[in-house]
Amino acid sequence: MSETEDAAAAHQAVEDAVARERARMARELHDSVATDLAGAISLFKVYVEGHPGSAKKGPPDGTLLNVLEILERMLKQVRETLAELRPRPIGREGLVGDIRHQAEEFARLYSIRVEISANGTEDMLTSHQREVVYQVVREALTNVRRHSGSSICRVRMAFAARPFLIEIADEGRGLASGRPGGYGLVGMRERSAGIGGRLEVVSEEGRGTKVFLFGPT
Ligand SMILES: Nc1ncnc2c1ncn2[C@@H]1O[C@H](COP(=O)(O)OP(=O)(O)OP(=O)(O)O)[C@@H](O)[C@H]1O
Ligand SMILES: [Mg+2]
Repeated sequence: MSETEDAAAAHQAVEDAVARERARMARELHDSVATDLAGAISLFKVYVEGHPGSAKKGPPDGTLLNVLEILERMLKQVRETLAELRPRPIGREGLVGDIRHQAEEFARLYSIRVEISANGTEDMLTSHQREVVYQVVREALTNVRRHSGSSICRVRMAFAARPFLIEIADEGRGLASGRPGGYGLVGMRERSAGIGGRLEVVSEEGRGTKVFLFGPT
């Protein structure tokens, strides 16, 4: 085996181990917290249905509906985390096909036009790299929808470039400086670093935001 092949095999082994560990965490989370939460919610609903009115009355029963709402929100968050830990494998239509589907959904549900362009072939990417690209595009599009106010977004995938480059650009209000963020950008950065690549965000207030994912060099 050549040195490059050795390095590639070692890298693949690390990727496989990380994927196995994430799947184990997803399993644990599913079997413990998610299952118990779902159980508690369904019991709660049975109670509320059996005692109509009691949940709507003033304190202390009036708080029941609030508790139910919080439990349902928690379950939703746990499910979202599960989906991230155990990413759905890229479908038969490939990464570009999956991203196109997501673009269509964005147009239909949120009236945001997503223009897709790609050069080269995604076959150059490992399956882990493709999953990371999909997740980064998904979170970037979610941010466009939630924060940018833009009605158009462009996703450019340069698979032929070395390193490969993915760009998600909107024409919205841009990143407001000093506003505390959540975990989306942090997660995108970590995922990019996990494949030996990097993430860059370029933004000017009022002039849109561009998210770049550079593949490994
Ligand atoms: N495309 C965008 N246009 C304008 N602002 C953005 C855009 N993307 C991100 N931001 C700003 O950057 C912040 C951080 O984004 P990030 O994805 O890390 O967190 P979030 O979307 O607020 O929460 P989370 O992703 O954890 O649900 C956002 O709160 C928002 O203010
Ligand atoms: Mg976000």
